[in-house]
Amino acid sequence: MAAAVGTRRRSSRSRSGGGMRMALLVVVVLAAAAALPASLAVTSPYVRPPPRATLSLLRDDDADDQTPQQVHVSMAGPDKMRVSWITDGDAPATVEYGTAPGQYTRSATGATTTYSYVRYHSGRIHHAVVGPLQPGTTYYYRCSGSTARDFSFRTPPATLPFKFVIVGDLGQTGWTDSTLKHVAAADYDALLLPGDLSYADFVQSRWDSFGRLVEPLASARPWMVTEGNHEVEKLPLLEPTPFKAYNARWRMPYDAPSAAGATPSGDNLYYSFDAAGGAVHVLMLGSYTDYAVGSTQRAWLQRDLAALDRARAAFVVALVHAPWYNSNEAHRGQGDAMRAAMEDLLYGTRVDAVFAGHVHAYERFARVYAGKEDPCGPVHVTVGDGGNREGLADKFVDPQPAISAFREASFGHGRLEVVNATHALWTWHRNDDDDPVVADQVWITSLAANPACNNRTNNKM
Ligand SMILES: [Fe+2]
Repeated sequence: MAAAVGTRRRSSRSRSGGGMRMALLVVVVLAAAAALPASLAVTSPYVRPPPRATLSLLRDDDADDQTPQQVHVSMAGPDKMRVSWITDGDAPATVEYGTAPGQYTRSATGATTTYSYVRYHSGRIHHAVVGPLQPGTTYYYRCSGSTARDFSFRTPPATLPFKFVIVGDLGQTGWTDSTLKHVAAADYDALLLPGDLSYADFVQSRWDSFGRLVEPLASARPWMVTEGNHEVEKLPLLEPTPFKAYNARWRMPYDAPSAAGATPSGDNLYYSFDAAGGAVHVLMLGSYTDYAVGSTQRAWLQRDLAALDRARAAFVVALVHAPWYNSNEAHRGQGDAMRAAMEDLLYGTRVDAVFAGHVHAYERFARVYAGKEDPCGPVHVTVGDGGNREGLADKFVDPQPAISAFREASFGHGRLEVVNATHALWTWHRNDDDDPVVADQVWITSLAANPACNNRTNNKM
């Protein structure tokens, strides 16, 4: 079992008829599971509702070509945010902002890019970094000088507690919409997405509709993403450059000075950043660029981890796309090579948790290292269940491996609340029809605070 201080699962379902009977069943099953030894592997008995259709979000016909669309924000250093948006026509890459609605006392101007993909030509994609900003403060802003739309975001806190939402493989279906409604229903400070964003799958207009779908949330809280296989979008002969749309649209803090507080990676496909004034360090790793021994990514990861002061970074978490541990029949072994190349580095630094996507189901493992339960290894969690159009991966390996603590093929999202320097609460919310239900919950304790895991002779770096 993971080195957690306790495990508790509960159902918050509150509906009548069949819903009540199912709720009772869930409560009975989970209560029974909770009464058994902590190392018991649990496969959820939940019966899933059917898939939902892809949404179609067209642009606003009333908008002129200066109107900002697909607005999203991301962290760009300890006191800065990057604002990203698209206009159909030429427009300045300027963000005006301030702490009162409609009173834009400051402004910043960034840069504009475009890309073409076969016969598709993107709008003007703008990125501008604003700041310095006060932590935990709501800023109001508008983009490209357009008076048509006003936005606001809240900067993350500079100290703990810090609340992350973590959800992978989002897509743009009716289930995505349900997941986003659940995400919006409770407050959080930043969203982490371990790859497979839009499921555009070469149809570039789907990147635009995805941008419109997530804008209400992504323009209000920082969304920090890393790439999945659906971001590659290489086409033989026609489009040999990978990640064209992803890199143009979802620019992350990989370079100085926007990576301030972390080691710049120099590549948008992998980077790290600090949250809560450095109390949490987040590694956004790239599963679809070179990670082998001798690669630029691995060399950067080694430098980044070597620069970490675990007396300051109470929690270190990593995100990858293809899971390193997986007992689902889908995508078996696809994270093995990356795990072989990088697991030692994470283990040596006592990384606390690794979150993955790719497999369209939920699964939480015990603390593991080198394939075995290890009290000083990370908790591994797969949350590739945001709501994409490919549906769920509902076939698990039988019997359930002992290191797999809880698994269920449902759509949903996770929340990691780092409460203080020693404790973080991980909760997975299942989309139960349209109600969010807490289906798995576990406390994760900081390995930096565990003396048994800080013997230098155990350090594998
Ligand atoms: Fe994937």
